[in-house]
Amino acid sequence: MQNSSQITPSFPTARPRRLRQSTNLRRMIRQTSLTPADFIYPMFILHGQNVRKEVSSMPGVYQQSVDTLTAEAEELRSLGIPAVMLFGLPAEKDPLGRENFAPDGIVQQAIKALHQADPELVIITDVCMCEYTDHGHCGVVENGQILNDPTLEILGQVAVSHARAGATMVGPSAMMDGQIVAIRRALDEAGFTNTPIMGYSAKYASGFYGPFREAADSPPQFGDRSTYQMDPANNREAIREMALDINEGADIIMVKPALPYLDIIRQARDTFPDLPLAAYNVSGEYSMLKAAARLGWLDEKRVALESLISIKRAGADMILTYWAKDAARWLG
Ligand code: PBG
Repeated sequence: MQNSSQITPSFPTARPRRLRQSTNLRRMIRQTSLTPADFIYPMFILHGQNVRKEVSSMPGVYQQSVDTLTAEAEELRSLGIPAVMLFGLPAEKDPLGRENFAPDGIVQQAIKALHQADPELVIITDVCMCEYTDHGHCGVVENGQILNDPTLEILGQVAVSHARAGATMVGPSAMMDGQIVAIRRALDEAGFTNTPIMGYSAKYASGFYGPFREAADSPPQFGDRSTYQMDPANNREAIREMALDINEGADIIMVKPALPYLDIIRQARDTFPDLPLAAYNVSGEYSMLKAAARLGWLDEKRVALESLISIKRAGADMILTYWAKDAARWLG
């Protein structure tokens, strides 16, 4: 914040361009930097052998089988990317999403494979129901309603099952009230007191998730998610959601999406200075720049790095982004 009592000279004494004259001067006054350590790489895992299927609405993003993960872990390590966020595509969907908490579920298998390939890799799992349920909603459905409290029990089971498989951290994204405390209790009771929780705390009901729903095969089969995800028009509610998550024991809070919500990221950073803050640069944010780049309308590298630095400048400590590997190379 500009200090209003500060005395600043004006033109012609003040010439901000003096400090922009050379690359090194610009490097010296640069406030924000990006490093591969800032990135969390989201991945979509499916059943099968030797599968690497590009998501049509997300060029450069793949649905991939467990046997491809060893090479993936090696690549991530060589690029200096510390963490992944895992999403699973089950063999079968049902109303409760049973594979979500099955010991041999797709994400559980992926966790083991990645952990074996690189024990240092931070494996974060998305804890939600929509990819696993036949109705595509993030909670238990009864008479067309998404039930809160019965969902909490399932989310707890999913988190414990991921921790048992070797997940480093869990990321609840269902936007159910009380999900952090429910998961914290379930983890603690199962002995996983050291498993951190990254709460998708301020998650908006966003059209920018469109391409993800193809990647994760998770569109809601009726209605939309606006009875649980937040209204894009609100910011006080975001602060309230984050405060609740912190009270319930979240170790890291998140704002999602990122670019249309940079104001929320900034408010979160200023309101909650003690907690690490993550931001999710979501599928639509990625796909729209990819599409424009393909048409030759934008320079992908430039606008991707500009997007990522903006998210950091707004106050995020870490960024979930599909550009993680490309960006690490570009920064390299
Ligand atoms: C829910 C979930 C979603 C995303 C991450 N976790 C989709 C949704 O809420 O509909 C979206 C991520 C993206 O768009 O990149 N499990």
